[in-house]
Amino acid sequence: MKLTFLGHACVFVESDAHRIIIDPFLSGNPLARLGPEEIACEYVIVTHGHGDHLGDTIEIAKKNDAMVISNFEIATYCNQQGVEKIHPMHIGGAAQFPFGRVKLTIAHHGSGFVTENNEIITLGNPAGVLLTIAGKTIYHAGDTGLFYDMKLIGDMNDIDVALLPIGDNFTMGIDDAVKAVEFLQPKLTVPIHYKTFDLIDVDPQEFAGKVSAQGGDVRILDVGDSLVVA
Ligand code: NI
Ligand code: MN
Repeated sequence: MKLTFLGHACVFVESDAHRIIIDPFLSGNPLARLGPEEIACEYVIVTHGHGDHLGDTIEIAKKNDAMVISNFEIATYCNQQGVEKIHPMHIGGAAQFPFGRVKLTIAHHGSGFVTENNEIITLGNPAGVLLTIAGKTIYHAGDTGLFYDMKLIGDMNDIDVALLPIGDNFTMGIDDAVKAVEFLQPKLTVPIHYKTFDLIDVDPQEFAGKVSAQGGDVRILDVGDSLVVA
């Protein structure tokens, strides 16, 4: 399984036969190096309705005839916007797909979406994602504050890679994310959701140092960097 960081909270996950993108915020992302038109995938997983996560989901799904996997409200919204293949689910539920398994977990955050008419509509509850593919388990926490149930997620899952927001202000900051690593006990942690905007400009090296001090492993990925998990 190969995981490529596309910036902010967006990762591209590939196995031999499948391609999945999570939270494809590329247009409007100052750090992104690819545009939505360059993405080829069969599935789009969306953690919540904020623009920096739902992002280019509809465009990518339509162009690739890809399936959107998300909470009921986001999946239904995408369907109303012309996405043909959707798989609605919700927090606590898991489902099997040709590539593996997806389970939605809790996240403490919002899921409001600003429409073209400048109205805010609430697209369900925000979630994290446990993605199992090619025998490996990735936990993408979505946007969230620290919560103690991360310990339960860590106890019940053998997490190979945890993708954790560290940028503070909208999500966990560095110290809370370090505590999250302690709860989750992943083999490897990749920090996400930092530097994209001034409000979340934190130093991932500080996070890496604090996690190593407690015996964990961190890999800082630059935009475009890949990680092979074998
Ligand atoms: Ni958000
Ligand atoms: Mn966000």
